[in-house]
Amino acid sequence: MEHLRRSKVVDLLQSRDFGKEVLVKGWVRTKRGNKQLNFIALNDGSVIHHIQIVAEVTHFDEELLKKITTGSAIAVKGILVESMGQGQQVEIQARSIELYGTADPETYPLQKKGHTLEFLREIAHLRPRTNTFGAVLRIRHSMAYAIHKYFNDHGFYYIHSPIITGSDAEGAGAMFRVTTLDPKTPPLTPEGKVNYSEDFFGKETNLTVSGQLEAELGALALSLVYTFGPTFRAENSNTPRHLAEFWMIEPEMAFYDIHDNMDLAEDFLKFLMQYILDHCLDDLEFLNRMYDNELIDRLKHIVSSTFERLTYTEAIKILKASGQQWEFPVDWGSDLQAEHERYLVEKHFKCPVMLTDYPKEIKAFYMKQNEDGKTVRGLDVLFPRTGEIIGGSQREENYDQLLQRINELGIPEKDVWWYLDTRRFGTAPHSGFGLGFERLILFVTGMSNIRDVIPFPRTPKNAEF
Ligand code: 4AD
Ligand code: MG
Repeated sequence: MEHLRRSKVVDLLQSRDFGKEVLVKGWVRTKRGNKQLNFIALNDGSVIHHIQIVAEVTHFDEELLKKITTGSAIAVKGILVESMGQGQQVEIQARSIELYGTADPETYPLQKKGHTLEFLREIAHLRPRTNTFGAVLRIRHSMAYAIHKYFNDHGFYYIHSPIITGSDAEGAGAMFRVTTLDPKTPPLTPEGKVNYSEDFFGKETNLTVSGQLEAELGALALSLVYTFGPTFRAENSNTPRHLAEFWMIEPEMAFYDIHDNMDLAEDFLKFLMQYILDHCLDDLEFLNRMYDNELIDRLKHIVSSTFERLTYTEAIKILKASGQQWEFPVDWGSDLQAEHERYLVEKHFKCPVMLTDYPKEIKAFYMKQNEDGKTVRGLDVLFPRTGEIIGGSQREENYDQLLQRINELGIPEKDVWWYLDTRRFGTAPHSGFGLGFERLILFVTGMSNIRDVIPFPRTPKNAEF
């Protein structure tokens, strides 16, 4: 008996070994019953479904049964039997129960069902115990695994780009400083500025906004690489699509032009949609039922659709001719807003859209310049609901062109000398893109707020847990 090993709920629900003795451990979701029998719904996080434990009241200490309430952790030894009840095929007839931890019904925040997502954000330390967050976290795991699988199967190498950086990849500012200087009395230069040469790294450093520049260094040696790590942006955007700390997947490919880049982005995203349909259907069905009844159809539609490819300039024409009332005006040269992106995807084309050749003024310094002198070979992939899910480009591989753009934008050469070096020694055409991991999870879960697809969201004024 002692060596009976714990079975996971996911396996027991599949099992038809009726009459077998099993050991199961988990957290009580509900307990109901009468004078003869108690029914306990037990969940261990291995699957969205609970297993039903049936306890004969006379068989157990009354005090023990009383203490088993919603949220408590227990271990149950019993016999796996075919269930006569509705909604499940197997259940466990309890022989012995060990109570690991109680959860006082007076104070346990998840005692009742049906909390709002807003309330659950305030108890982010406990929300993994809800059906919704169990489903989201399992899907998040499966997507991370599928991403590594896709790249491994396609001959890409995983590069670990640094989290602390002395460069500013996007040139957009809005970074978080990393320092060990005393905030009250930092060392000063003769001009009265903070003297970062006395800081830990001997220079000003920040948390990275992107692993791209380092990925490029890898691609110009290993051909096909990707990064997958946390990135940080200090922009004060309080929207359902922005986090201050988010994860990004950034493949970078030597010898790829913008068309190869688009082919990869489309194939990669379709693979991920199919993977989640194949491996997380129970969780998807739950989310489809509870939050978004078009979720599964939408995922299937992505897999079977052909992404529409057009230039920014063509998109502007469509938006201008649409007759729509926009909150933000549409003009050649200005960045597209979520309302414009969603119009193109949801109303006009009714499929994912890949936009290229953006005005150079609204894109980063490293994008390859087109011959028209006005546009660069940027790429955004737009999805229904989420809008921009991927941003990328073919990179400027020509040393003179790149240097000219760096000078135009006033980026100090001393900050990017190593990046420029790759264009001096064995430069080659190359391309890449960044997929926002939480934007992807938003899309595949059908959730509507990005704060609900990462365990501990970091947003302006919020880093409690
Ligand atoms: O378009 P972005 O800024 O592109 C880059 O950072 C490039 N260096 C990527 C590359 O070419 N290697 O960001 C890429 C993606 C966006 O499309 C979006 O999905 C996501 O990252 N993203 C965010 N997700 C959550 N919160 C934010 N604040 C985000 N900013 C960007
Ligand atoms: Mg972008």
